[in-house]
Amino acid sequence: MAGLRFFTFSQVAQHKSNKDCWLVINGRVLDVTKFLEEHPGGDEVLLEVAGKDATKEFDAIGHSKEAQNLVLKYQVGVLQGVNVQEVDFKGVVDKESNNKEMSAFVIKEDSAPKSIVFYEFFVPILVAGLYFGYRFLTSEDSITY
Ligand code: HEM
Repeated sequence: MAGLRFFTFSQVAQHKSNKDCWLVINGRVLDVTKFLEEHPGGDEVLLEVAGKDATKEFDAIGHSKEAQNLVLKYQVGVLQGVNVQEVDFKGVVDKESNNKEMSAFVIKEDSAPKSIVFYEFFVPILVAGLYFGYRFLTSEDSITY
């Protein structure tokens, strides 16, 4: 991440007009001035959070992966005190790897229940049946004595 500059919140807060608009998403400082007119959600929403941390607002919309990748295009730096590595993990990379984990989990979930039902339900019944069968046979033996 060489070349990225560090900014404080008060520095970011100075860029809040439609001619100079910065905001923060996941610790990344973005200059979205040129993006204002291109933003599919309109420039007004961006100007409302200009100079501020817009992470919550950005996440609340459920922006697509394309939108998340687009964030990188407008990054001019990171917030001071934020671990750059941490920022990367909180951002796009993390969301993608989470999705992979989720789909792997769902695949596992599909095949698991059948064997669980067999081992957790039928095996104890089989063991109990054998036990009571054995008891029944041995008690009959004792009556004959
Ligand atoms: C650099 C930062 C941002 C980028 C690159 C970006 C990009 C996009 C893109 C590509 C879309 C189209 C839909 C999609 O692909 O998800 C979109 C829609 C939208 N965005 Fe953003 N956005 C940014 C920041 C924000 C922020 C901070 C807000 C709220 C304060 C916001 C509010 C919206 C809204 C309301 C829509 C319309 C959603 C809809 O019509 O369903 N965006 N944005």
